[in-house]
Amino acid sequence: MNRTLNFYAGPAALPLPTLERARDEMIDWAGTGMSVMETSHRSKEYDAVHHEAMDLIGELLGLDDDHQVLFLQGGASLQFAMVPMNFIPPGGSADYVITGSWAQKALKEANIVARGRVAGSSEAASFTRVPTQAELDLDPTAAFVHVTSNNTIRGTQFHEFPKTGSLPLVADMSSDFLWRPIDANRFHLIYAGAQKNLGPSGVTIVVLRKSWLAKANSGLPTMLKYSIHSEKESLYNTPPTFAVYMVRNVLLWVKEMGGLTAMETRNRAKGDRLYRAIAAHPDFYRSPVDAGSRSYMNIVFRLPSEELETKFVAEAKQAHMVGLKGHRSVGGCRASIYNATDLAAVETLATFMDDFARRNG
Ligand SMILES: Cc1ncc(COP(=O)(O)O)c(C=O)c1O
Repeated sequence: MNRTLNFYAGPAALPLPTLERARDEMIDWAGTGMSVMETSHRSKEYDAVHHEAMDLIGELLGLDDDHQVLFLQGGASLQFAMVPMNFIPPGGSADYVITGSWAQKALKEANIVARGRVAGSSEAASFTRVPTQAELDLDPTAAFVHVTSNNTIRGTQFHEFPKTGSLPLVADMSSDFLWRPIDANRFHLIYAGAQKNLGPSGVTIVVLRKSWLAKANSGLPTMLKYSIHSEKESLYNTPPTFAVYMVRNVLLWVKEMGGLTAMETRNRAKGDRLYRAIAAHPDFYRSPVDAGSRSYMNIVFRLPSEELETKFVAEAKQAHMVGLKGHRSVGGCRASIYNATDLAAVETLATFMDDFARRNG
């Protein structure tokens, strides 16, 4: 079997054993004589997978009893609207830390449904870093403070989350959920589309502090209320059953690999390897990101010209490496190396980068 080395930003590579398991269970799953996709979401077999996946997230993150895992639809993009709809009270506002276009999109939705305020931004630094604590100007009356933990497009990441005192902290962790151990109980709400670190697209993971629901706005359409999804344990309507099943498979793999501590070791080794490959050819490769804000999930880099960047991506593809083109809004190159990517794949890319620089530098 000749698997492609996949560096797409999302949907992204999945661990091979999770795909093999899905293949093996495709026709006859859990002795049902059906695939999971063909099984009722009210069946005991599906229910077991659904709750196992929720429990595994709780276990990996060490969630306390006040935190609950939800499986929603509509992507992280719907969370941009749902969070302010539920938690900005009438006449109130929320604080947003702007680190690039995903944070800007979250702020835009907040301003459609309520009011969002910029509490700090690295735009003046062209989003080449995340704002420092000293640069934040928090409104003590804000309903919450929203951060984007990892900027998928710019390749920046918070290595320490902002201190928000008594203000609820909300994070879009779409592109670095479960990349390392964090104090998840500190957050009032975390959301992440599954399709980067966790599974296929179609399911969005939400980690919610249940006691916060007491402050949620009523009067919203049922599907937009966290309270209903909390009460019904994400079975109010039909969940994306196959996506949840795949997420469960990936979570079991994460656990078997040694959990989040092992993920962090693996992810740091991979990121460090690629940043070393960039630094080894300073006249050829350049990281546009400040050293202190560099992402371990999305490594962005520039070559001396756009022509060379196009050539790099094309030659990499010939060598079975895909997904290395930077986001269309910023150009350049980007290697997305989420949990599923192994060090061997990164080593192959680093060797290719070294060779390409020698041949074209
Ligand atoms: C940080 C971040 N937030 C939000 C999104 C949007 O996610 P979705 O496509 O699931 O709505 C993305 C997608 O790449 C992302 O990287």
